[in-house]
Amino acid sequence: MLYAVIPAGGAGTRLWPLSRASHPKFLHALTGTSASLIQATVGRLGGLTSPDTTMVVTGASHAADVARQLPDLPAENVLVEPLPRDSCAAIGLAAAVIAEREPEAVMGAFPADHLITDVQAFQACVLAGVSGALAGKLMTIGITPTRPETGYGYLRCTSDEGQVREVAEFVEKPDKERAAAYLQSGEYLWNAGMFIWRVDAFLAELARQQPELHDGLRRIAAAWHGPRRDDRMAEIWPDLKKISIDYAVMEGAAAQGLVGTVPGEFGWNDVGDFHTLGDILPGDEQGNVVLAADDAKGEVVLRDSEGVIVVPRSGRLIAAVGLRDAVIVDTEDALLVCPRDRAQEVKAIVDGLKERG
Ligand code: GDD
Ligand code: MG
Repeated sequence: MLYAVIPAGGAGTRLWPLSRASHPKFLHALTGTSASLIQATVGRLGGLTSPDTTMVVTGASHAADVARQLPDLPAENVLVEPLPRDSCAAIGLAAAVIAEREPEAVMGAFPADHLITDVQAFQACVLAGVSGALAGKLMTIGITPTRPETGYGYLRCTSDEGQVREVAEFVEKPDKERAAAYLQSGEYLWNAGMFIWRVDAFLAELARQQPELHDGLRRIAAAWHGPRRDDRMAEIWPDLKKISIDYAVMEGAAAQGLVGTVPGEFGWNDVGDFHTLGDILPGDEQGNVVLAADDAKGEVVLRDSEGVIVVPRSGRLIAAVGLRDAVIVDTEDALLVCPRDRAQEVKAIVDGLKERG
């Protein structure tokens, strides 16, 4: 049985004003259906794992929402962090807790905020990943890059055949020049941000590269099923190193020849901003995408418009005429309008608002 670990953190500031620190993107229905991103993440693992072996790692302020959205999950499978320590601590905690019970278990980490359109192809990749994991590798899933994205990790594969490939180099978030060169070379895949491994293999690499973080997580996990859990957590967690798993473990593991990848094509999108979301969700004949929530009362009227993404969440009627490639996000207390290709810059607005207080 595969253990599924769903790290669910981060505010998703590039999806403002929909995504907020209080209600981050994984809780929102951004899937073109009424399912939230985290519900879709768990749903697409159906048949590969079960609620008993599915764990979500999330912040204290989101635990209740997560439990409400995933009613089949046993309460103890929501691992709650007192404060965010980035993805290495989050995924590492789940790995250490699983290892307490089953040190040789295979686990997969599946981010809560990804969109995947071809579930069958996705599941086939995960199964291939499990076979690589059983052979001792730290497995990734590799996506064919389509643009010089600087927000992703890049995997250089030495072989270009077979379902499981060797990764010679893992480069997290390269700068613009390097990303462009990697894209051009044709030798690199994007890291999809999902990891599959035997927990013992991962923890050994964590111990080698991040001994203090490893030690802290092991001490917390050792107390996990006893009465001292909360005390241990409060005592150790806040001082754990805040670092992503990509920098903490994957780059160094690839340099040791320990990383493999399964190339996958399954309509993957990490739902970073409204522009990329609009690319993947089905639109009307003019390429307009309306992302209505289940309970949305508001109506959207687009006249002579193309490639417009509308997220109506205020209940108001939204009308536009003659727009091309624009984003309109209307919530009760904030309205965003911008060209699609500048959707990433929304982050700067949020940062500016934070400064203003
Ligand atoms: N619980 C918890 N706590 N989860 C966290 C935390 C945290 O403090 N920080 C991040 N996460 C979760 C996010 O919610 C997401 O599910 C996952 O860990 C990855 O974190 P991101 O912050 O979204 O990483 P990224 O998108 O910049 O980069 C990763 O994903 C890319 C693909 O989307 C990397 O793995 C890249 O290499 C990869 O290309
Ligand atoms: Mg991400």
